[in-house]
Amino acid sequence: MTHPVLSALGLTENESGTFLGNGQWSATKDAGVLEPVNPTTGEVLGRVYASSQGDYDTIVERAQAVFKVWRTTPAPRRGEAIRLCADALRTHKDALGSLVALEMGKSKPEGDGEVQEMIDIGEFAVGLSRQLYGLTMHSERPGHRMYEQWHPIGIVGVISAFNFPVAVWAWNSFVAAICGDITIWKPSPKTPLSAIAAMKICNEALKKGGFPDIFFLFNDAGSELAQQFVDDKRVPLISFTGSTKVGRMVGERVAQRMGRSLLELGGNNAIIVDQTADLKLAIPAIVFGAVGTAGQRCTTTRRLFVHESMYDEVLGKLVTAYKQVEGKIGDPTDPKNLMGPLNSQDGVNAYLDAVEKAKAAGGKIETGGAAIEGKGNFVLPTIVTGLTNDAQIVQHETFAPILYVMKFKTIDEAIDMQNAVPQGLSSAIFTTNLKAAEAFLAASGSDCGIANVNIGTSGAEIGGAFGGEKETGGGRESGSDSWKAYMRRQTNTINYSDSLPLAQGIKFDL
Ligand code: UN1
Repeated sequence: MTHPVLSALGLTENESGTFLGNGQWSATKDAGVLEPVNPTTGEVLGRVYASSQGDYDTIVERAQAVFKVWRTTPAPRRGEAIRLCADALRTHKDALGSLVALEMGKSKPEGDGEVQEMIDIGEFAVGLSRQLYGLTMHSERPGHRMYEQWHPIGIVGVISAFNFPVAVWAWNSFVAAICGDITIWKPSPKTPLSAIAAMKICNEALKKGGFPDIFFLFNDAGSELAQQFVDDKRVPLISFTGSTKVGRMVGERVAQRMGRSLLELGGNNAIIVDQTADLKLAIPAIVFGAVGTAGQRCTTTRRLFVHESMYDEVLGKLVTAYKQVEGKIGDPTDPKNLMGPLNSQDGVNAYLDAVEKAKAAGGKIETGGAAIEGKGNFVLPTIVTGLTNDAQIVQHETFAPILYVMKFKTIDEAIDMQNAVPQGLSSAIFTTNLKAAEAFLAASGSDCGIANVNIGTSGAEIGGAFGGEKETGGGRESGSDSWKAYMRRQTNTINYSDSLPLAQGIKFDL
């Protein structure tokens, strides 16, 4: 029987994983099948027919054709298309939020919150569609005018991860759409149903508004089509969200063909709690950051540095809070639960492996440290003490709710430890000391793409540029001026005089 959460969105147990454009979903049934699993029960939720080579070729050809129309559609009109998508998502927020919770395993409020991020970026993109500003410059030559303008780049390839199965696509595709680009999406094989549902909602909205299909979707049974996609010269920009290991490969291959890549890779995010911190703010922020989405956000809090004078108090409060969370682990579609399962059995294995490594390195498990017996991929949120920041397992991003707690004496020492990891996504300090806050935000402070004061590491708003440094990949997407990544810049010089002066004063007398 089709799960009611699927039926509420008009999905059945058998879905095509390929949207070919021109209103058409592919009839391919012989290119493999994806079987997304409900991480709460271990049951298969549905069958998604994977895309064939022929499907992929059709998608790229149609995307190229529609780009020719879309790039000359006025940007504010493109904004209207995205306004309709955001409106449709508002209507379906509850249903899509439930599907995200069901298929990914995050809690229902977090599933709804993810759809809210799609709506928010949609509305941001609508405003942006009237603000794709370039600069004007003063020419060094008389009778000359110089300015720059931003043109659409073409087809944007989006490869997204299971943990944000719909929002990351929206961050990319909605902004790309108002920029005049066409998006081809390859979602995670673990969450294809959420992707199909999001596509259907947006397709319907575009159709009703009389707009062409500007979003395409394919699902790969293996990785052959994804590899072709990464190497495809017809796709000038690949936006990849996922592990550092795969992201490095994507970045190298795209660079090989002189394409552009936008990489959002792993994080190893830390919170610093100094001796002046307000623990009423710090404790819930740490718990949400470390336990929210069962530790499967790239912005999840993985390391905690506490001033030695507060250490025992903070650790005691955290252990108490973790015990409360333990009572609210369960079916993520039930809004009373705070924590759902890990998305896959692989995730559970990585969690167990990290716990073993932490113990072997001399770590002490203060709470948690085990998988929960029975159905589903449930684990206990875990706090580890007794390891130093340079321990191999602390340096590594394990996509699970494991928090390493360490002590510090001086703020400089805390900042140095926070920076001493390969990743550079998100960071936070809890302090009421102005000097400590400013030291953390200074050029000599946090080296991350996101640095917060008195709020945690996760749950970034869409209005800022999202991304990080070092092995996080350097990409920025979502708000601020991230739109520039989806356009090509052109510098224009216009001579309205009757002579041809050369720049730099060069004389070239014929
Ligand atoms: C991710 O985990 O890939 O900051 C993105 C946050 C979310 C986005 C996370 N807005 O937690």
